Amino acid sequence: MKRVFVIGAGTMGHGIAEVAALAGYEVYMYDISQEILNRAIDRIRWSLEKLYEKKRIQSIEDVLNRIKPTLNFEEAARNSDIAIEAVPESLQLKKEIFARLDVLMHGDAILATNTSSLPISEIAEATRRPNKVIGIHFFNPPVLMQLVEIIRGSATDDDTVRRSVDFVRSLGKTPILVNKDVPGFVVNRILGAIQNVACHLVYRGEYTHVEIDSAVKYKAGLPMGLFELRDFTGMDVGYMVAKALAERDPMFRQECPLIEEYYRKGWLGVKTGRGFYEYKSPSDRPNIPREAGERVNVVRVLAAGVNMAAWLLRNGIATKEDIDTGVRLGLGYPKGILQYADEWGIDEVVKELQYLYDKYGLILAKPDELLIKMINEGKLGKKTGEGFYKYAS
Ligand SMILES: NC(=O)c1ccc[n+]([C@@H]2O[C@H](COP(=O)([O-])OP(=O)(O)OC[C@H]3O[C@@H](n4cnc5c(N)ncnc54)[C@H](O)[C@@H]3O)[C@@H](O)[C@H]2O)c1
Repeated sequence: MKRVFVIGAGTMGHGIAEVAALAGYEVYMYDISQEILNRAIDRIRWSLEKLYEKKRIQSIEDVLNRIKPTLNFEEAARNSDIAIEAVPESLQLKKEIFARLDVLMHGDAILATNTSSLPISEIAEATRRPNKVIGIHFFNPPVLMQLVEIIRGSATDDDTVRRSVDFVRSLGKTPILVNKDVPGFVVNRILGAIQNVACHLVYRGEYTHVEIDSAVKYKAGLPMGLFELRDFTGMDVGYMVAKALAERDPMFRQECPLIEEYYRKGWLGVKTGRGFYEYKSPSDRPNIPREAGERVNVVRVLAAGVNMAAWLLRNGIATKEDIDTGVRLGLGYPKGILQYADEWGIDEVVKELQYLYDKYGLILAKPDELLIKMINEGKLGKKTGEGFYKYAS
């Protein structure tokens, strides 16, 4: 593979183009107007200047010269070995683009989508080569985020998976394999479960958002509070993501009413000066006192993430190593969620899930069969020498 075709030069597309050029690929970067392409090049130059200042690259121009901004879709498609589509999240639009790529690209080319929430299998149906269609899901910002999820559609063949893994490694990124295009894939599924349950806990008055954020930061070592993260991401984005998950997956259908309420009030988070916290400026960080989380049981707050990870594992969607890599690199947690579970004890995790399920009827807290089986087999985690992982006594 030599030439990469990036379609859409927005938030993700310009970053993906930059990552590919940094790795030495020739890149075509396509969008619908010259103005948008110019803006994308400006953003790439700005980012390359930062890398240059940090002495991570020797020449800005060398990298930029490998990126060809273009309005000529046909030429770019004909000359490329892999396409990575990063246009807005519309199934119809993506299908149109994949149908065109299918006609124009050579027979061995890989057709990849960066979609966060649409089924790869459905996008692939727009082509005559669904075996060569795959999800290559970068995290934002692509230049800084180490993780890439590689998602198999129902028809994706092993060769395409292998070449996509090699391609992502050649970018200097860490791929994890997602064997089925379940909504949210691995990382956003686990995050979605954790955030949903945490939000329900606040909505129902079990804990306050400050208490939870303090506990996850200071007791579990997460880089940010869960509600701080919501404010940072934006309630509009959170609301749309939750809706997309709820529409496609019954496990996520119990949306947290607080998110819709805040969204409707325009409390979108940092960008509007108010979300769960208040912000005087965009660089403001919320005040989350260390002692605020004292009464919080952090296992109760994060157990839904373990439950979702168990579901992914039991359904053969990802390996335990990939799940934990995804959580560490995609969410910035100091440990994988299954490592946490082994430390807390699987029995403790199930006790908390059962509490949440009995008290609030939360589907995401219904203990997964795999966790029950582990308890029955005495695999309770570190304390018994085996949980998700084995431990030397
Ligand atoms: N933003 C994120 O954090 C994030 C993270 C991972 C994945 N994604 C996914 O990446 C994709 C792109 O998201 P984004 O945030 O970069 O969106 P964006 O709106 O920033 O960029 C989309 C770009 O596509 C262009 N575009 C629109 N119609 C087009 C067409 N017909 N042909 C070519 N280009 C067209 C737009 O002009 C725009 O520049 C989505 O599928 C999204 O789900 C986003």
